[in-house]
Amino acid sequence: MKLPKKVELIEVGPRDGLQNEANFIPTEKKIEMINALNKTGIKRMEATSFVHPVYVPQMKDAKEVLEGIEQDPSIQYMALIPNEKGFERAVENGVRSLSLVVGASDSFNLKNVKMTRDESINKFSSVVEKAKEMGNFLRYNIATAFWCPYEGSVDSELVLDMVRQIDRSGVDEIVICDTIGRANPAQVFDLFSRIFKEQPNALITAHFHDTYGLAQANIMAALQADVTRFDTSIGGLGGCPFAPGAAGNVATEDVVFMLNEMGIETGIDLSSLLACVEKVEPLTNRELTGHFHKIKVVQNQI
Ligand code: COA
Ligand code: ZN
Repeated sequence: MKLPKKVELIEVGPRDGLQNEANFIPTEKKIEMINALNKTGIKRMEATSFVHPVYVPQMKDAKEVLEGIEQDPSIQYMALIPNEKGFERAVENGVRSLSLVVGASDSFNLKNVKMTRDESINKFSSVVEKAKEMGNFLRYNIATAFWCPYEGSVDSELVLDMVRQIDRSGVDEIVICDTIGRANPAQVFDLFSRIFKEQPNALITAHFHDTYGLAQANIMAALQADVTRFDTSIGGLGGCPFAPGAAGNVATEDVVFMLNEMGIETGIDLSSLLACVEKVEPLTNRELTGHFHKIKVVQNQI
């Protein structure tokens, strides 16, 4: 089997993870969570988002979270932005790494950010230019890249077109997101193989949710297609308030466990991750969906 030596995991728990939690998680708890993640070996994370506080109240404390965390200079803290206003707010708050989001499907994008896909892309083109002039890092998420909760299957040609267009604009990273966790491994292999065939040098990341329990299988398929970067979320937190039915992201600790078992390095320490899950779980008033933290027998063997 074709496997890389190293894989990079980008932690999205503090953003994608928490944005879907019904109860407001106190700012100091979010700060504690990020400070604990700082100690796990994770080198990149989405820390928060500058979205409208009425639409996503959980993220209303973006500024306070960023001010409160111990920013480790060796870690990249990114903030998601949905539009120009989000960009302005992020920059005002000293963010240097921006995570832009556009849905491949119009129906999702309209629900998510109240713009069509093309409107979002056009508005973001000036954001990309300004951000590049300022020397910011730009990550561009293509949401609903496989399946839309409102329109169903998404045409891969359309996603490939978006990748071409976004890559031409000179962003640093493109994230292909299975926002509702509906992709299957064959589709994943096919799409990523086609992307790399056209853009062999692009920095491509895969983002899987685990709605149908296929996220780890999708990671395996993506590895076969040469993907070496994945978004994951501690405890399997996650979901999108505008994508009904979507379960959490694939759990960071589950992915680290699988990769460790296969001899693939991530630089992330499983025991410190488990300490984070223990901190985070009580904040959610539910049992988190990740598998590894529940299996004490295995944990004792690591
Ligand atoms: N943050 C805070 N306020 C914002 C904002 C942002 N990113 N974008 C717009 N606003 C404010 C405007 O300043 C304006 O305020 P005013 O009424 O005081 O003048 C008001 O919101 C309306 O502006 P408009 O551009 O018409 O926004 P909208 O109502 O069309 O909402 C979004 C657009 C993107 C802000 C909103 O849909 C949103 O926050 N979506 C969240 C998406 C998300 O987080 N999804 C999950 C992650 S993918
Ligand atoms: Zn997601």
